[in-house]
Amino acid sequence: MNLTIVYGTQSGNARNLAHVIGESLEAHGFCAPVLDMGEVDPEEILSMKHVVIVTSTYGDGEPPDNASEWMSFLKFAEELNLNQLHYAVIGLGDPYYPHFCQCGKDFDHYLSKWGAHAMLNRLDCDLYYEEQYPEWVNELIEVLKNDLQE
Ligand SMILES: Cc1cc2nc3c(=O)[nH]c(=O)nc-3n(C[C@H](O)[C@H](O)[C@H](O)COP(=O)(O)O)c2cc1C
Repeated sequence: MNLTIVYGTQSGNARNLAHVIGESLEAHGFCAPVLDMGEVDPEEILSMKHVVIVTSTYGDGEPPDNASEWMSFLKFAEELNLNQLHYAVIGLGDPYYPHFCQCGKDFDHYLSKWGAHAMLNRLDCDLYYEEQYPEWVNELIEVLKNDLQE
């Protein structure tokens, strides 16, 4: 299965979570490289089949620096066809800020706008994300197993 995990992070939480998710997927037999968004050309999304996006939000609802190129690519494209792509977004944020988990919300919005298919509902996590992600990851694993059988 062509499956990639990419993360957008400023201070490391999303990177750590992306690696934990990668290990969970691996334990269930999936091989999913975990990549820094800043080191992946956003055009590569055009040939991806399954992608998991783990991202925090910074500034005033902005993407972290290493996710800004991906966001601009999706936001300012005139036309994109991502119909081949199945995606899942998990956002990290803090409800203290007015634009809670905005970066994850924006990725979800633009991926869907360009025809990509959500594998499951986006999860917006607050600072207690370590308690919140496991159920979502279990659901993701079930969806991926079903996709493999099709
Ligand atoms: C300067 C600053 C700005 C932030 N802005 C937002 C924001 O607009 N919305 C939000 O939901 N969280 C915001 N956060 C919270 C971070 O997204 C949250 O702490 C997250 O866990 C950081 O993950 P990271 O280490 O992967 O970057 C902000 C945090 C800082 C320090």
